[in-house]
Amino acid sequence: MDLKSLKIKAQEKIQKTKELKDLDSLWREYIGKKGKISKIFNALKDLSEEERRKIGKQANEIKEQIRHLIEEKRKELLEKETSKQEMESGIDVTLPGKKIEGGHLHPLTQVLERIEEIFGKMGFSIVEGPDIENEWYNFDALNIPKDHPARDLWDTLWLKIPKLLLRTHTSPVQIHYMEKNNPPFRIVVPGRVFRYEATDFSHEIQFYQLEGLMVDKDISLANLKAILIQFFKNFFGREVKIRFRPGYFPFTEPSIEADIRLNRKWMEVLGAGMVHPNVFKAARLNPHNWQGFAFGMGVDRLAMLKYKINDIRLFYNGDLRFLEQF
Ligand code: PHE
Repeated sequence: MDLKSLKIKAQEKIQKTKELKDLDSLWREYIGKKGKISKIFNALKDLSEEERRKIGKQANEIKEQIRHLIEEKRKELLEKETSKQEMESGIDVTLPGKKIEGGHLHPLTQVLERIEEIFGKMGFSIVEGPDIENEWYNFDALNIPKDHPARDLWDTLWLKIPKLLLRTHTSPVQIHYMEKNNPPFRIVVPGRVFRYEATDFSHEIQFYQLEGLMVDKDISLANLKAILIQFFKNFFGREVKIRFRPGYFPFTEPSIEADIRLNRKWMEVLGAGMVHPNVFKAARLNPHNWQGFAFGMGVDRLAMLKYKINDIRLFYNGDLRFLEQF
């Protein structure tokens, strides 16, 4: 038999094969040690030099081709076999695979990052302070007298270590910062604060605040208003009206509360005022040389307004049905 028809015959047989074991006998028949192609190699010794070279080369090529065809067929049959087994065992191989879900940032973290980005563009540095404070930083240095109601046990979570507490606001970071830095400066301080309170849809024992502090030679509440208008416009993505009302905080004088107008309602969003001279003194800055404003806004409140969330507790109870919406 000449090499060409040997190859064609082999091709046909391989194509028709349906069982792996038949493929094995084809392998023996052609490629194996006693197979047809080996026989051709054995017969080469009786040929002339020139013919030996020619036929030897052809035989080698055909051996490779047949080996390749058998391997391909073997893969095909193996695949058929496994899917047949899967069908019989009840596994539906046509089902889409399970997608591995990537995690994402908590909605409050997303809102905080956005707030920091906006203030960052307006030249504010991001500063942080400790969650655990002593009475001096949380109260005294902020001009909160010993008998002020904010010091009541009711509002403050005290630690077992005497005079240490969980900060009730981010204002103590004003003092930390001014002890180490001279004006002019503008900073914002994001952070968690804690209150000893009953929880309901608008109260949590922990929540986030953003403190702001801008100090220079002649900073006024007009600067504060301009910065807030710019901030809320960027945060909500549209013009937001803002209203100042008189307020009271021991560490600012005068003090104000600010409301923004959203969905035809005025909403209180922050407390603010001009830094009280006693606060400058507590941080060892001369109140005759410097003036500035401070503000504190509720981050949870802003996130609730932005995403129309009606219960602050949703941020803290880890319910994936809620968290996965962001
Ligand atoms: N620390 C105040 C609060 O927690 C908010 C505030 C900050 C008011 C800075 C004035 C200036 O209510």
